[in-house]
Amino acid sequence: MSRALPKNAMRTVLVTGAASGFGRGVVSALLARGFRVLATMRKADARRESFASEIAKYPDALEVLELDVTNAEDRDAIAQLATRRGLDGLVNNAGYGLFGALEDVSEAQLRAQLEVNFFGLALLTQALLPALRIARGFVINLSSTMGTTAFPLTGAYCASKFALEGLSEALYHELSPHGVRVHLVEPGGHRTDFATNVTWGDRVTAAYSGQTRGYRALYTRLASGSGTPPDAVIAAVAALAQRPSTRLRIPVGRDARAIATLRALLPDSITLPALSLIFRRVFPKNGPRPVTAIAPQSEAR
Ligand SMILES: NC(=O)c1ccc[n+]([C@@H]2O[C@H](COP(=O)([O-])OP(=O)(O)OC[C@H]3O[C@@H](n4cnc5c(N)ncnc54)[C@H](OP(=O)(O)O)[C@@H]3O)[C@@H](O)[C@H]2O)c1
Repeated sequence: MSRALPKNAMRTVLVTGAASGFGRGVVSALLARGFRVLATMRKADARRESFASEIAKYPDALEVLELDVTNAEDRDAIAQLATRRGLDGLVNNAGYGLFGALEDVSEAQLRAQLEVNFFGLALLTQALLPALRIARGFVINLSSTMGTTAFPLTGAYCASKFALEGLSEALYHELSPHGVRVHLVEPGGHRTDFATNVTWGDRVTAAYSGQTRGYRALYTRLASGSGTPPDAVIAAVAALAQRPSTRLRIPVGRDARAIATLRALLPDSITLPALSLIFRRVFPKNGPRPVTAIAPQSEAR
């Protein structure tokens, strides 16, 4: 049974990657719900200005702080601050996508992907857990549909999110006796800066050029502003912060819920070949048909 926390308890939550997308929205949603927020990001000094109206509205509740999750000194500084002040919640949101066929991503790109989406997150969480255990607080990890179901040409990103899912499930059990909640929010595709910030493999092997063109076309469309607004993900994170829940995985978005339901109901022997067929149609080996090759209906007859 879930229990709402007292509204007036001023609890402190740290959000990573708070400059844009879900993170930016979560900061506003938590402030509006009466939380004290440590909004952390890279280049915080240059970005503080974009929080001016909220700093004016919540002068005692919002702090904008520097944190590159891959930087050990940044993590140490944040951990010291959290230990001094106390910390009730951590929203591990910072992340990005490295896309492209495995043959097309360099070792440095592969390692950087895991460094941000997994190692940085894991080490930050490790550093903040002593404070979170004292507060009997919570950890909310931004995973993805791609944390449970892999798509082609996204192996590096999927690996980072599958790793996060494993870590989080272990922590769910490990920390429950200590009163610390762990949740995985698993969004489907949503409109943030994610598509713009996708890094592609540093080469395109001829064998994958068609599939890569198809995937890039999809992400160019998403980067141009189409897609589901981020509100439901932001609301899901804020609700978990406010109202204790025993749920580990929370898929958000119609696509995410549909895939989660299919995976829960059907065995891999059915879903994997079916998904493979779909992926072969959506990202064909020879690439999407050029628009000019599609004859108008009247001429095609
Ligand atoms: N949007 C989607 O469709 C979607 C779907 C499923 C899951 N997700 C996940 O949701 C999370 C948030 O992404 P978003 O959609 O809100 O995209 P976004 O707008 O690109 O936000 C990602 C944030 O992560 C920050 N970041 C990247 N590397 C960092 C580092 N080393 N240290 C600290 N911050 C870093 C970025 O900061 P900079 O500006 O400094 O690069 C950016 O503010 C990610 O974990 C992503 O994997 C997104």
